[in-house]
Amino acid sequence: MRKPIIAGNWKMFKTRDETLQFIYAVSNRVASIEKVDSVICAPFPVLRCLVKRQGDNLRIGAQNMHFAEEGAYTGEVSAAMLNSIDVSYVIIGHSERRAMFNETDETVNKKLHQAFKHELKPILCVGESLAQRESGSTEKVIEDQIKKDLSGLSKEQVEGLVIAYEPIWAIGTGKTATSAIADETCGFIRKVVGDLYGMETAEVIRIQYGGSVKLSNIDELMSMPNIDGALIGGASLVAEDFIKLVAAAVK
Ligand code: 13P
Repeated sequence: MRKPIIAGNWKMFKTRDETLQFIYAVSNRVASIEKVDSVICAPFPVLRCLVKRQGDNLRIGAQNMHFAEEGAYTGEVSAAMLNSIDVSYVIIGHSERRAMFNETDETVNKKLHQAFKHELKPILCVGESLAQRESGSTEKVIEDQIKKDLSGLSKEQVEGLVIAYEPIWAIGTGKTATSAIADETCGFIRKVVGDLYGMETAEVIRIQYGGSVKLSNIDELMSMPNIDGALIGGASLVAEDFIKLVAAAVK
């Protein structure tokens, strides 16, 4: 049995005051939902105040990191820095970073290795564009991403990874993939992981769906066999909604 995992991706939202307001409203209530792992992936400046409220099933994550150990990389943050302030998770390869900040499968792969080296749990994002879906190349695109992104990772590392399937056309658009499409593609990701690492690993790895997840569609998405959770943008910013989304993930 895979434990459901709900992660909020705040993107570039919330100041320190807004963060404190959110976490005071959420932490105790989410922590009591023991059957779900919940994660808040926040901007760097507020991570420090969030980790203080971390508990067994409420963990804090970053949204990016650099692949180098340290060095002259102005404006970047390393895995060791995140680990040193007790950050637990890190999103790697979000489509917004791939599209706007030159993230490639090669840098994603280096970042995954570096995250594991510093005991951060990566949430790896993969997904196809609308043009790719419409031309029937979704499976090829995703298989290619997974093979390149996971290259050189061990079975144990992959078993500790979370993969988020985020079709680019469903992010921030209000268009959710139907639960059937989301489940089918998450199932395909599981198959690719199985081909690479064996069925046992495929059974263990947790795969989330992301893209316009909200209160009105979470129940149906979570009822699907291959969907183990959600990576949620907009709807994760409202404290009461985030609590309800986590509660809805109890399978
Ligand atoms: P929305 O939930 O706002 O569509 O964002 C999805 C996403 O990109 C999460 O990483």
